[in-house]
Amino acid sequence: MNQNDLLNLRHATLDEARNDMYERLSSRDANYSLDAPLYNDPHMFRIDMEEVFQKEWLFVGMSSEVPKRGDYFTVEIGQNPVLVIRDADGSVNAFHNTCRHRGSRLCTEKHGKVANLVCPYHQWTYDLKGNLLFAGMEMGNGFDKQKHGLKRAHCKTAGGFVFVCLANEAPKGDFDDFLQTLEEYMEPYDVENTKLAIESNMYERANWKLVLENNRECYHCAANHPELLNTLLEWDDTNDPRAPKDFLDHYQAQADKWDAESIPHAHKSFGPGLRNRIVRMPLKKGTQAMTIDGEAACKKLLGRVNNPELGSMRILHLPNSWNHMQSDHFIVFRVLPISAQETMVTTKWFVHKDAVEGVDYDPERLRKVWDATNEQDRVLGEQNQLGINSIAYQPGPYSETYEFGVMNFIEWYSDTMLKNLKK
Ligand code: FES
Ligand SMILES: [Fe+2]
Repeated sequence: MNQNDLLNLRHATLDEARNDMYERLSSRDANYSLDAPLYNDPHMFRIDMEEVFQKEWLFVGMSSEVPKRGDYFTVEIGQNPVLVIRDADGSVNAFHNTCRHRGSRLCTEKHGKVANLVCPYHQWTYDLKGNLLFAGMEMGNGFDKQKHGLKRAHCKTAGGFVFVCLANEAPKGDFDDFLQTLEEYMEPYDVENTKLAIESNMYERANWKLVLENNRECYHCAANHPELLNTLLEWDDTNDPRAPKDFLDHYQAQADKWDAESIPHAHKSFGPGLRNRIVRMPLKKGTQAMTIDGEAACKKLLGRVNNPELGSMRILHLPNSWNHMQSDHFIVFRVLPISAQETMVTTKWFVHKDAVEGVDYDPERLRKVWDATNEQDRVLGEQNQLGINSIAYQPGPYSETYEFGVMNFIEWYSDTMLKNLKK
Protein backbone atom coordinates (compact mmCIF):
# COMPACT_ATOMS: atom_id res chain seq x y z
CA MET A 1 0.00 0.00 0.00
CA ASN A 2 1.46 3.39 -0.90
CA GLN A 3 1.40 6.42 1.35
CA ASN A 4 -1.68 7.89 -0.27
CA ASP A 5 -3.60 4.69 0.34
CA LEU A 6 -2.49 4.54 3.98
CA LEU A 7 -3.56 8.14 4.54
CA ASN A 8 -7.03 7.36 3.22
CA LEU A 9 -7.63 4.02 4.90
CA ARG A 10 -10.63 4.57 7.16
CA HIS A 11 -11.89 1.13 8.11
CA ALA A 12 -10.49 -1.89 9.88
CA THR A 13 -12.36 -4.33 7.66
CA LEU A 14 -13.87 -4.53 4.21
CA ASP A 15 -17.32 -5.20 5.70
CA GLU A 16 -17.18 -1.94 7.62
CA ALA A 17 -16.21 -0.16 4.43
CA ARG A 18 -19.11 -1.81 2.56
CA ASN A 19 -21.60 -0.64 5.20
CA ASP A 20 -20.14 2.85 5.17
CA MET A 21 -20.29 2.95 1.38
CA TYR A 22 -23.90 1.80 1.37
CA GLU A 23 -24.82 4.49 3.92
CA ARG A 24 -23.05 7.23 2.00
CA LEU A 25 -24.57 6.29 -1.35
CA SER A 26 -28.10 5.79 -0.06
CA SER A 27 -28.09 9.14 1.73
CA ARG A 28 -26.22 11.11 -0.94
CA ASP A 29 -27.60 14.31 -2.44
CA ALA A 30 -27.95 13.71 -6.20
CA ASN A 31 -26.95 17.29 -6.91
CA TYR A 32 -23.58 17.01 -5.17
CA SER A 33 -20.28 15.29 -5.87
CA LEU A 34 -19.50 12.19 -3.81
CA ASP A 35 -17.90 11.98 -0.39
CA ALA A 36 -14.08 11.83 -0.41
CA PRO A 37 -13.78 8.13 0.59
CA LEU A 38 -15.54 7.15 -2.61
CA TYR A 39 -12.68 8.76 -4.50
CA ASN A 40 -9.70 7.77 -2.36
CA ASP A 41 -10.34 5.03 0.18
CA PRO A 42 -8.51 1.80 -0.80
CA HIS A 43 -11.23 -0.41 0.69
CA MET A 44 -13.87 1.42 -1.30
CA PHE A 45 -11.72 1.06 -4.37
CA ARG A 46 -11.65 -2.68 -3.82
CA ILE A 47 -15.44 -2.66 -3.51
CA ASP A 48 -15.67 -0.75 -6.82
CA MET A 49 -13.59 -3.50 -8.39
CA GLU A 50 -15.67 -6.30 -6.89
CA GLU A 51 -19.07 -4.75 -7.55
CA VAL A 52 -18.53 -2.93 -10.82
CA PHE A 53 -15.44 -4.08 -12.70
CA GLN A 54 -15.79 -7.75 -11.79
CA LYS A 55 -19.56 -7.83 -12.29
CA GLU A 56 -20.61 -5.50 -15.10
CA TRP A 57 -20.04 -5.57 -18.86
CA LEU A 58 -16.85 -3.71 -19.78
CA PHE A 59 -15.57 -2.43 -23.11
CA VAL A 60 -12.15 -3.93 -23.86
CA GLY A 61 -11.35 -3.32 -27.55
CA MET A 62 -12.40 -3.79 -31.16
CA SER A 63 -12.77 -7.04 -33.08
CA SER A 64 -10.55 -5.65 -35.87
CA GLU A 65 -7.63 -5.74 -33.41
CA VAL A 66 -7.80 -9.52 -33.80
CA PRO A 67 -8.58 -9.91 -37.53
CA LYS A 68 -7.32 -13.49 -38.03
CA ARG A 69 -7.33 -16.77 -36.12
CA GLY A 70 -4.85 -16.77 -33.27
CA ASP A 71 -4.66 -12.96 -33.06
CA TYR A 72 -5.08 -11.76 -29.49
CA PHE A 73 -4.90 -8.74 -27.25
CA THR A 74 -4.59 -8.66 -23.48
CA VAL A 75 -6.14 -6.34 -20.96
CA GLU A 76 -5.72 -5.91 -17.21
CA ILE A 77 -9.02 -5.50 -15.37
CA GLY A 78 -7.61 -4.54 -11.99
CA GLN A 79 -5.77 -7.61 -10.78
CA ASN A 80 -7.38 -9.79 -13.44
CA PRO A 81 -5.39 -10.38 -16.62
CA VAL A 82 -7.75 -11.16 -19.52
CA LEU A 83 -7.04 -12.44 -23.00
CA VAL A 84 -9.24 -11.74 -26.04
CA ILE A 85 -8.51 -14.09 -28.93
CA ARG A 86 -10.02 -15.06 -32.29
CA ASP A 87 -10.48 -18.80 -32.79
CA ALA A 88 -10.44 -20.90 -35.98
CA ASP A 89 -14.21 -20.41 -36.50
CA GLY A 90 -13.75 -16.65 -36.51
CA SER A 91 -15.36 -16.13 -33.09
CA VAL A 92 -13.85 -13.72 -30.61
CA ASN A 93 -13.57 -15.25 -27.12
CA ALA A 94 -12.27 -14.00 -23.79
CA PHE A 95 -10.37 -16.06 -21.24
CA HIS A 96 -8.78 -15.36 -17.93
CA ASN A 97 -5.12 -14.99 -18.88
CA THR A 98 -3.91 -17.31 -16.15
CA CYS A 99 -2.50 -20.82 -16.63
CA ARG A 100 -4.35 -23.76 -15.09
CA HIS A 101 -1.05 -25.32 -13.97
CA ARG A 102 0.32 -22.96 -11.35
CA GLY A 103 -1.32 -19.79 -12.47
CA SER A 104 1.30 -17.96 -14.48
CA ARG A 105 0.08 -15.22 -16.78
CA LEU A 106 -0.08 -16.86 -20.17
CA CYS A 107 0.19 -14.10 -22.80
CA THR A 108 2.50 -11.32 -21.80
CA GLU A 109 2.24 -8.97 -24.80
CA LYS A 110 -0.49 -6.36 -25.39
CA HIS A 111 -1.08 -7.72 -28.90
CA GLY A 112 0.13 -10.93 -30.49
CA LYS A 113 -0.55 -13.93 -32.68
CA VAL A 114 -0.28 -17.62 -31.74
CA ALA A 115 -1.02 -21.04 -33.23
CA ASN A 116 -1.71 -22.36 -29.74
CA LEU A 117 -1.42 -20.70 -26.36
CA VAL A 118 1.77 -21.89 -24.67
CA CYS A 119 2.47 -20.97 -21.06
CA PRO A 120 5.95 -19.44 -20.74
CA TYR A 121 6.53 -21.16 -17.37
CA HIS A 122 6.28 -24.95 -18.02
CA GLN A 123 4.80 -24.94 -21.51
CA TRP A 124 1.30 -26.18 -20.85
CA THR A 125 -0.39 -25.69 -24.21
CA TYR A 126 -4.00 -24.68 -24.94
CA ASP A 127 -5.84 -24.45 -28.26
CA LEU A 128 -7.57 -21.25 -29.39
CA LYS A 129 -10.78 -22.32 -27.64
CA GLY A 130 -8.94 -22.66 -24.33
CA ASN A 131 -8.84 -26.47 -24.24
CA LEU A 132 -5.70 -27.93 -22.69
CA LEU A 133 -3.81 -29.86 -25.40
CA PHE A 134 -0.56 -30.83 -23.63
CA ALA A 135 0.31 -30.71 -19.98
CA GLY A 136 3.96 -30.59 -21.00
CA MET A 137 5.00 -33.09 -18.35
CA GLU A 138 3.88 -36.38 -16.85
CA MET A 139 0.85 -35.55 -14.71
CA GLY A 140 -0.03 -39.09 -13.64
CA ASN A 141 -2.95 -41.32 -14.50
CA GLY A 142 -5.68 -39.47 -12.69
CA PHE A 143 -5.03 -36.20 -14.51
CA ASP A 144 -7.95 -35.01 -16.62
CA LYS A 145 -6.95 -32.54 -19.30
CA GLN A 146 -10.58 -31.64 -19.93
CA LYS A 147 -10.89 -30.25 -16.42
CA HIS A 148 -7.93 -27.93 -16.94
CA GLY A 149 -9.01 -25.72 -19.81
CA LEU A 150 -8.66 -21.95 -19.56
CA LYS A 151 -11.40 -20.21 -17.63
CA ARG A 152 -13.72 -18.25 -19.84
CA ALA A 153 -14.94 -14.73 -19.31
CA HIS A 154 -18.28 -13.75 -20.85
CA CYS A 155 -17.64 -12.05 -24.17
CA LYS A 156 -20.00 -10.33 -26.59
CA THR A 157 -19.29 -8.39 -29.75
CA ALA A 158 -21.51 -5.97 -31.65
CA GLY A 159 -20.65 -3.48 -34.37
CA GLY A 160 -16.99 -4.40 -33.86
CA PHE A 161 -17.03 -3.56 -30.15
CA VAL A 162 -15.83 -6.29 -27.79
CA PHE A 163 -17.25 -6.41 -24.27
CA VAL A 164 -16.31 -8.79 -21.48
CA CYS A 165 -17.87 -9.56 -18.13
CA LEU A 166 -15.97 -11.33 -15.35
CA ALA A 167 -19.04 -12.24 -13.26
CA ASN A 168 -20.04 -15.88 -12.93
CA GLU A 169 -23.39 -14.86 -14.29
CA ALA A 170 -23.49 -11.84 -16.58
CA PRO A 171 -25.98 -9.16 -15.52
CA LYS A 172 -29.35 -9.20 -17.24
CA GLY A 173 -31.11 -6.06 -18.34
CA ASP A 174 -31.11 -4.15 -21.57
CA PHE A 175 -27.51 -4.75 -22.58
CA ASP A 176 -28.57 -6.86 -25.57
CA ASP A 177 -30.85 -4.08 -26.78
CA PHE A 178 -27.90 -1.74 -26.69
CA LEU A 179 -25.79 -4.25 -28.63
CA GLN A 180 -28.44 -4.55 -31.31
CA THR A 181 -28.50 -0.76 -31.72
CA LEU A 182 -24.71 -0.65 -31.75
CA GLU A 183 -24.68 -3.21 -34.55
CA GLU A 184 -27.13 -1.12 -36.54
CA TYR A 185 -25.38 2.21 -35.91
CA MET A 186 -21.89 0.83 -36.65
CA GLU A 187 -22.94 -0.85 -39.93
CA PRO A 188 -21.74 2.01 -42.19
CA TYR A 189 -18.21 1.73 -40.73
CA ASP A 190 -17.55 -1.94 -41.58
CA VAL A 191 -15.28 -2.34 -38.56
CA GLU A 192 -13.98 -5.74 -39.71
CA ASN A 193 -12.23 -3.84 -42.52
CA THR A 194 -10.51 -1.33 -40.26
CA LYS A 195 -7.15 -1.51 -38.54
CA LEU A 196 -5.63 -0.16 -35.38
CA ALA A 197 -3.39 2.74 -36.42
CA ILE A 198 -2.29 4.06 -33.02
CA GLU A 199 -2.68 3.06 -29.38
CA SER A 200 -1.81 5.29 -26.46
CA ASN A 201 -1.83 4.24 -22.81
CA MET A 202 -1.97 7.15 -20.42
CA TYR A 203 -1.39 6.70 -16.71
CA GLU A 204 -3.39 9.10 -14.57
CA ARG A 205 -3.09 9.69 -10.83
CA ALA A 206 -6.81 9.96 -10.22
CA ASN A 207 -9.69 7.70 -9.21
CA TRP A 208 -11.45 6.17 -12.22
CA LYS A 209 -14.70 7.98 -11.37
CA LEU A 210 -12.95 11.34 -11.64
CA VAL A 211 -11.76 10.35 -15.11
CA LEU A 212 -15.34 9.52 -16.11
CA GLU A 213 -16.81 12.61 -14.45
CA ASN A 214 -14.36 14.78 -16.34
CA ASN A 215 -15.40 13.15 -19.59
CA ARG A 216 -19.11 13.62 -18.90
CA GLU A 217 -19.08 17.40 -19.03
CA CYS A 218 -17.66 20.00 -21.35
CA TYR A 219 -18.03 22.81 -18.83
CA HIS A 220 -14.23 22.66 -18.60
CA CYS A 221 -13.65 22.58 -22.37
CA ALA A 222 -13.53 26.30 -23.19
CA ALA A 223 -10.74 26.97 -20.69
CA ASN A 224 -8.78 23.78 -21.32
CA HIS A 225 -9.20 22.23 -24.75
CA PRO A 226 -8.31 24.69 -27.54
CA GLU A 227 -7.37 21.89 -30.00
CA LEU A 228 -10.58 19.95 -29.43
CA LEU A 229 -12.75 23.03 -29.77
CA ASN A 230 -11.45 23.67 -33.29
CA THR A 231 -14.02 21.08 -34.35
CA LEU A 232 -16.16 19.91 -31.40
CA LEU A 233 -19.51 21.48 -30.66
CA GLU A 234 -20.37 21.13 -27.02
CA TRP A 235 -24.01 20.13 -27.40
CA ASP A 236 -24.57 16.43 -27.52
CA ASP A 237 -28.29 16.48 -27.61
CA THR A 238 -30.72 18.54 -29.66
CA ASN A 239 -32.77 18.88 -26.46
CA ASP A 240 -29.93 20.63 -24.64
CA PRO A 241 -31.52 23.86 -23.39
CA ARG A 242 -28.26 25.70 -24.11
CA ALA A 243 -28.19 24.72 -27.80
CA PRO A 244 -28.60 27.88 -29.91
CA LYS A 245 -30.73 28.11 -33.05
CA ASP A 246 -27.78 28.14 -35.46
CA PHE A 247 -26.62 24.81 -33.97
CA LEU A 248 -30.09 23.30 -34.35
CA ASP A 249 -30.24 24.52 -37.98
CA HIS A 250 -26.77 23.10 -38.67
CA TYR A 251 -27.79 19.80 -37.08
CA GLN A 252 -30.94 19.59 -39.18
CA ALA A 253 -29.10 20.33 -42.43
CA GLN A 254 -26.51 17.64 -41.65
CA ALA A 255 -29.10 15.14 -40.44
CA ASP A 256 -31.03 15.49 -43.73
CA LYS A 257 -27.88 14.49 -45.62
CA TRP A 258 -27.23 11.58 -43.25
CA ASP A 259 -30.81 10.39 -43.67
CA ALA A 260 -30.41 10.47 -47.47
CA GLU A 261 -27.58 7.92 -47.11
CA SER A 262 -29.14 5.93 -44.24
CA ILE A 263 -26.50 7.00 -41.77
CA PRO A 264 -28.02 6.52 -38.29
CA HIS A 265 -27.92 9.51 -35.99
CA ALA A 266 -30.93 9.64 -33.64
CA HIS A 267 -30.21 9.62 -29.94
CA LYS A 268 -30.75 6.21 -28.31
CA SER A 269 -30.06 5.41 -24.70
CA PHE A 270 -30.40 2.39 -22.47
CA GLY A 271 -30.32 1.90 -18.74
CA PRO A 272 -30.23 4.19 -15.73
CA GLY A 273 -28.00 7.23 -15.96
CA LEU A 274 -27.87 6.80 -19.76
CA ARG A 275 -25.53 3.90 -19.12
CA ASN A 276 -25.36 3.05 -22.81
CA ARG A 277 -25.93 5.82 -25.22
CA ILE A 278 -25.43 6.55 -28.93
CA VAL A 279 -25.93 9.80 -30.78
CA ARG A 280 -24.44 11.39 -33.88
CA MET A 281 -23.70 15.08 -33.65
CA PRO A 282 -22.29 17.40 -36.28
CA LEU A 283 -18.84 18.88 -35.87
CA LYS A 284 -18.32 22.63 -36.44
CA LYS A 285 -19.56 23.91 -39.80
CA GLY A 286 -17.11 23.13 -42.58
CA THR A 287 -15.03 20.61 -40.60
CA GLN A 288 -14.79 16.87 -41.23
CA ALA A 289 -12.85 15.31 -38.39
CA MET A 290 -11.27 15.98 -35.01
CA THR A 291 -7.98 17.24 -36.37
CA ILE A 292 -6.16 20.51 -35.77
CA ASP A 293 -7.48 22.07 -38.98
CA GLY A 294 -10.74 20.10 -39.18
CA GLU A 295 -9.78 18.37 -42.45
CA ALA A 296 -10.04 14.58 -42.60
CA ALA A 297 -7.02 12.75 -41.14
CA CYS A 298 -7.23 9.82 -43.55
CA LYS A 299 -7.83 9.96 -47.30
CA LYS A 300 -9.73 6.66 -47.32
CA LEU A 301 -13.16 6.98 -45.77
CA LEU A 302 -14.42 4.09 -43.65
CA GLY A 303 -16.80 1.37 -44.84
CA ARG A 304 -19.59 2.58 -47.13
CA VAL A 305 -19.18 6.20 -46.05
CA ASN A 306 -19.29 8.78 -48.89
CA ASN A 307 -19.99 11.96 -47.00
CA PRO A 308 -16.85 13.21 -45.22
CA GLU A 309 -19.04 15.31 -42.93
CA LEU A 310 -20.51 12.63 -40.71
CA GLY A 311 -19.80 14.62 -37.57
CA SER A 312 -18.98 12.37 -34.69
CA MET A 313 -21.08 9.47 -33.51
CA ARG A 314 -20.59 9.44 -29.76
CA ILE A 315 -20.99 6.16 -27.96
CA LEU A 316 -21.01 5.97 -24.20
CA HIS A 317 -20.74 2.74 -22.28
CA LEU A 318 -20.54 3.02 -18.50
CA PRO A 319 -18.45 2.32 -16.56
CA ASN A 320 -15.50 2.52 -18.85
CA SER A 321 -15.79 3.85 -22.37
CA TRP A 322 -16.64 6.78 -24.64
CA ASN A 323 -16.00 6.91 -28.35
CA HIS A 324 -15.97 9.17 -31.40
CA MET A 325 -16.86 7.68 -34.78
CA GLN A 326 -16.14 9.96 -37.74
CA SER A 327 -16.13 9.52 -41.53
CA ASP A 328 -12.41 8.78 -42.00
CA HIS A 329 -11.34 7.35 -38.62
CA PHE A 330 -12.74 6.45 -35.26
CA ILE A 331 -11.35 6.74 -31.77
CA VAL A 332 -12.19 4.46 -28.85
CA PHE A 333 -11.42 5.17 -25.21
CA ARG A 334 -11.11 2.60 -22.43
CA VAL A 335 -10.76 3.40 -18.75
CA LEU A 336 -9.36 0.77 -16.38
CA PRO A 337 -8.71 1.40 -12.70
CA ILE A 338 -5.35 0.47 -11.17
CA SER A 339 -5.80 1.62 -7.58
CA ALA A 340 -7.87 4.11 -5.59
CA GLN A 341 -5.89 6.97 -7.11
CA GLU A 342 -4.49 5.49 -10.31
CA THR A 343 -6.18 4.81 -13.65
CA MET A 344 -5.08 3.72 -17.11
CA VAL A 345 -6.74 5.52 -20.01
CA THR A 346 -6.22 3.77 -23.33
CA THR A 347 -7.00 5.55 -26.59
CA LYS A 348 -7.01 3.77 -29.95
CA TRP A 349 -7.33 5.29 -33.41
CA PHE A 350 -8.65 3.14 -36.28
CA VAL A 351 -8.55 3.75 -40.03
CA HIS A 352 -9.58 1.78 -43.13
CA LYS A 353 -7.52 -1.40 -43.29
CA ASP A 354 -6.21 -0.50 -46.76
CA ALA A 355 -5.13 3.00 -45.72
CA VAL A 356 -1.37 3.30 -46.00
CA GLU A 357 0.57 5.09 -43.29
CA GLY A 358 2.47 8.06 -44.72
CA VAL A 359 0.35 8.02 -47.88
CA ASP A 360 -3.27 8.09 -46.76
CA TYR A 361 -2.69 9.26 -43.21
CA ASP A 362 -0.01 10.77 -41.05
CA PRO A 363 -0.14 9.22 -37.55
CA GLU A 364 1.09 12.42 -35.91
CA ARG A 365 -1.73 14.40 -37.46
CA LEU A 366 -4.27 11.68 -36.71
CA ARG A 367 -3.48 11.60 -32.98
CA LYS A 368 -2.64 15.23 -32.29
CA VAL A 369 -5.97 16.61 -31.04
CA TRP A 370 -6.78 13.74 -28.70
CA ASP A 371 -3.21 13.43 -27.43
CA ALA A 372 -3.41 17.08 -26.43
CA THR A 373 -6.92 16.69 -25.02
CA ASN A 374 -6.06 13.57 -23.03
CA GLU A 375 -3.03 15.26 -21.52
CA GLN A 376 -5.11 18.30 -20.55
CA ASP A 377 -7.73 16.02 -19.01
CA ARG A 378 -5.05 14.05 -17.14
CA VAL A 379 -3.86 17.24 -15.43
CA LEU A 380 -7.45 18.22 -14.58
CA GLY A 381 -8.18 14.78 -13.14
CA GLU A 382 -5.01 14.74 -11.05
CA GLN A 383 -5.65 18.24 -9.68
CA ASN A 384 -9.22 17.20 -8.86
CA GLN A 385 -7.90 14.17 -6.94
CA LEU A 386 -5.34 16.25 -4.99
CA GLY A 387 -8.03 18.69 -3.89
CA ILE A 388 -10.42 15.91 -2.88
CA ASN A 389 -7.68 14.41 -0.68
CA SER A 390 -7.67 17.60 1.40
CA ILE A 391 -9.30 17.51 4.85
CA ALA A 392 -11.15 20.63 3.68
CA TYR A 393 -12.93 18.88 0.76
CA GLN A 394 -16.66 18.57 1.00
CA PRO A 395 -19.00 17.50 -1.81
CA GLY A 396 -19.79 20.44 -4.08
CA PRO A 397 -22.90 21.25 -6.16
CA TYR A 398 -23.31 20.17 -9.79
CA SER A 399 -24.80 22.53 -12.33
CA GLU A 400 -27.91 20.86 -13.73
CA THR A 401 -27.42 22.75 -17.00
CA TYR A 402 -23.72 22.09 -17.54
CA GLU A 403 -23.02 18.95 -15.52
CA PHE A 404 -26.08 16.80 -16.16
CA GLY A 405 -23.82 14.17 -17.76
CA VAL A 406 -21.82 13.89 -14.52
CA MET A 407 -25.05 13.60 -12.56
CA ASN A 408 -26.19 10.82 -14.91
CA PHE A 409 -22.93 8.92 -14.46
CA ILE A 410 -23.00 9.23 -10.67
CA GLU A 411 -26.64 8.16 -10.68
CA TRP A 412 -25.72 5.03 -12.65
CA TYR A 413 -22.74 4.34 -10.39
CA SER A 414 -24.71 4.84 -7.21
CA ASP A 415 -27.69 2.74 -8.36
CA THR A 416 -25.40 -0.07 -9.52
CA MET A 417 -23.44 -0.11 -6.29
CA LEU A 418 -26.53 -0.03 -4.09
CA LYS A 419 -28.07 -2.87 -6.09
CA ASN A 420 -24.89 -4.98 -6.07
CA LEU A 421 -24.00 -4.24 -2.43
CA LYS A 422 -27.41 -5.45 -1.30
CA LYS A 423 -26.99 -8.89 -2.91
S1 FES B 1 2.27 -22.27 -14.66
FE1 FES B 1 1.77 -22.53 -16.74
S2 FES B 1 2.80 -24.32 -17.28
FE2 FES B 1 3.29 -24.08 -15.21
FE1 LIG C 1 -11.83 17.23 -21.16
